[in-house]
Amino acid sequence: MSNPLSYVGSEDSSPWHTYLSQVDRVLPYLGNLARWAETLKRPKRALIVDVPIEMDDGSVRHFEGFRVQHNLSRGPGKGGVRYHPDVTLEEVMALSAWMTIKCAGVGLPYGGAKGGIRVDPKTLSHKELERMTRRYTSEIGIIIGPQRDIPAPDVNTNGQIMAWMMDTYSMNTGSTATGVVTGKPIHLGGSLGRVKATGRGVFVTGREAARRIGLKLDGARVAVQGFGNVGSAAAELFVGAGAKIVAVQDHTGTLVNKNGFDMQGLMATVRRDGGVGNFKEAERVDNESFWDVDCDILIPAALEGQIDTARANRLKAKLVLEGANGPTLPDADDVMRERGILVVPDVICNAGGVTVSYFEWVQDFSSFFWTEDEINVRLDKIMVDALKHIWDTADKHKITLRTATFAVACERILIAREERGLYP
Ligand SMILES: NC(=O)c1ccc[n+]([C@@H]2O[C@H](COP(=O)([O-])OP(=O)(O)OC[C@H]3O[C@@H](n4cnc5c(N)ncnc54)[C@H](O)[C@@H]3O)[C@@H](O)[C@H]2O)c1
Repeated sequence: MSNPLSYVGSEDSSPWHTYLSQVDRVLPYLGNLARWAETLKRPKRALIVDVPIEMDDGSVRHFEGFRVQHNLSRGPGKGGVRYHPDVTLEEVMALSAWMTIKCAGVGLPYGGAKGGIRVDPKTLSHKELERMTRRYTSEIGIIIGPQRDIPAPDVNTNGQIMAWMMDTYSMNTGSTATGVVTGKPIHLGGSLGRVKATGRGVFVTGREAARRIGLKLDGARVAVQGFGNVGSAAAELFVGAGAKIVAVQDHTGTLVNKNGFDMQGLMATVRRDGGVGNFKEAERVDNESFWDVDCDILIPAALEGQIDTARANRLKAKLVLEGANGPTLPDADDVMRERGILVVPDVICNAGGVTVSYFEWVQDFSSFFWTEDEINVRLDKIMVDALKHIWDTADKHKITLRTATFAVACERILIAREERGLYP
């Protein structure tokens, strides 16, 4: 019998495998710090919790919950909570690790963490969703906290879920702790600009990348996979800059409109039905055809592992903006580089959300709130400066923006690791 895999081992094509391959690619650029690199390949702490709840019909169901703190060398853990039937420990490990890289890449004083529950939340009632969220929060309450690890929204979680998490943590600790989660509703210590911040960051990095490769946004054709929080906010900003959305795909189907979608109508359909599928003013095509759509910019903003080598070989886009975490497999990265397609990687492209989460956390501590303009201006500057530094690193070593982001981030993480030293 062969040895079962260690929990830090990886199955091919899993998100954790993708992350480990990305770390291996950066090792040659880390100099003496490479001796600490193993620290990047092991999550510091992984908590698996049983989440039992009483359903509305009186039965009891158990859900698997996770919270992983990948690295805390630079500060408390930071990362979203995902509700999805495919959530696994391995996936949460990868997502937490990308948070470590992302926070260091934009220079935020955080480590990386992530959480999730293996559930399809669409099958739960509002009350069941609340009970599950509260029990999960209580279970992970032993490792989260405003100075320890600060959750936020991710796929299928939102401001309401953050409000329940904040309230549950506060009830358990005896005082209102707004800083324990970010992405909260505004009247509970949330920040203006947070809901659309990830999409805004995708737009800002996309705007800068387009400028550098001489691609005009005015008239540019954009295809978006995933029309949730990230995809829809990014799409709106691109349309505002003169681009047109020519294809959208979500879990309800794939739609194409060469003349550009009417965004208001599309957004109204998504608000009403929870997906793009029923929007009439477009042609419905099979899901796989999404990857053949004639476009200039492609924004994957759904789930991991979407761009494999076969799809990378078919893409028409000149620029890929990774709104989602981990949408590209490592071999597909090589194909896109060879084909001259520029990829702005997740670890910088979608860092706008965590950046405004950081603003929210800072505002909560000082109980002093900024205007939306202040937030957007600061977000823009942080993202532009971070991308410039990454671009310079890429030019210096002649490496992709992904490996350059890892180089910048891993150096910061491992310097912190070295300076703190090993305890005891
Ligand atoms: N919300 C944030 O602030 C944030 C920050 C950084 C990164 N991200 C990443 O962005 C991605 C999207 O997150 P979100 O917050 O927009 O989630 P969301 O739940 O608001 O939206 C997810 C979207 O993906 C679509 N989708 C799901 N399964 C699909 C499938 N099989 N094929 C095509 N589309 C599918 C859904 O229909 C929906 O439109 C995730 O990878 C997430 O980790 C989110």
